[in-house]
Amino acid sequence: MAETTDKKDKPQKLEDLPGVGPTTAEKLREAGYTTLESVAVASPAELMEVAGLGEGTALKVINAAREALEMSWMSAKELLEKRGIVGRITTGSKALDELIGGGVETQAITEFYGKFGSGKTQVCHQLAVNVQLPYEKGGLNGSALYIDTENTFRPERIMQMAKAVGLDPEQALENIYVARAYNSDHQMVLAEKAREIVQEKNIKLVIVDSLTAHFRAEYVGRGALAERQQKLNRHIHTLQKLADTYNIAVVVTNQVMAKPDMFFGDPTEPVGGHVIGHAATYRIYIRKSKGEKRIARLVDSPHLPEGEAVFRVTMNGIEDE
Ligand SMILES: Nc1ncnc2c1ncn2[C@@H]1O[C@H](COP(=O)(O)OP(=O)(O)O)[C@@H](O)[C@H]1O
Ligand SMILES: [Mg+2]
Repeated sequence: MAETTDKKDKPQKLEDLPGVGPTTAEKLREAGYTTLESVAVASPAELMEVAGLGEGTALKVINAAREALEMSWMSAKELLEKRGIVGRITTGSKALDELIGGGVETQAITEFYGKFGSGKTQVCHQLAVNVQLPYEKGGLNGSALYIDTENTFRPERIMQMAKAVGLDPEQALENIYVARAYNSDHQMVLAEKAREIVQEKNIKLVIVDSLTAHFRAEYVGRGALAERQQKLNRHIHTLQKLADTYNIAVVVTNQVMAKPDMFFGDPTEPVGGHVIGHAATYRIYIRKSKGEKRIARLVDSPHLPEGEAVFRVTMNGIEDE
């Protein structure tokens, strides 16, 4: 009966949650739900799938985890306080930072979209470097996770950019965890597994470059559109949850086609269309101007005016005009 009194204490581990026995705990851990936090932000359907729980039990388990962490519905004031700890990463260009409200935000997904060669991957590299900077220099003193789907991650470029901002190039490389995603399913698994290392490695930025390339290549034609959209939606949901739970910035890229090679829909619209449009907190369209110059335009931001900023892609990285 001593156990009953113990139960008054807050749950510390999975087994402390009502309805979670050793077998269920093991199944949850195997599926990557290793902490109360990860259970608290799961959906009932996820737990039903990975641990074979009934819907009622799944709900009970999630609620218990939330209570243990004192997570529940937040008042607008609490939400504002939580927003207070939002961090920002400088892009390297003051003009671009200002356009997006002071840099790339944590607890949000920022989407850079544009044609091939517009500079999306350059911006990603720069952010992976800049997140490592101290706060007073526009960083978050953190590391980056880089999901590379197009094999365009270049360590040499990171070293170049690191030197330019006064970081040790070797150290800068060590603080970027790169995973090459071979197909869309692999990409989704990588995002789901990210939470396992986010805390351990002090990850403050997760990059998916490109978010949509694999999906575009694999789901072709009208018949595949619904499935593609559904999967993309799930993937984005995973990313949003990462951003919210761990107070990290998520940056994704999305390529728009230079040539109308799509049979359906508007070819100048980014792949993923509306789903991404609703999830991404910031969407920035980049286009090439003369030489090193690039023009960024903020699209559909919830609380910032639309506008444009000019920046440059130089040997040193992203810079002002
Ligand atoms: N080391 C460098 N020095 C200067 N400019 C560079 C360097 N590396 C890449 N760039 C510029 O970035 C462009 C490629 O941009 P990228 O980010 O790869 O485009 P995308 O939008 O397709 O990801 C090149 O065309 C070039 O203008
Ligand atoms: Mg690219």
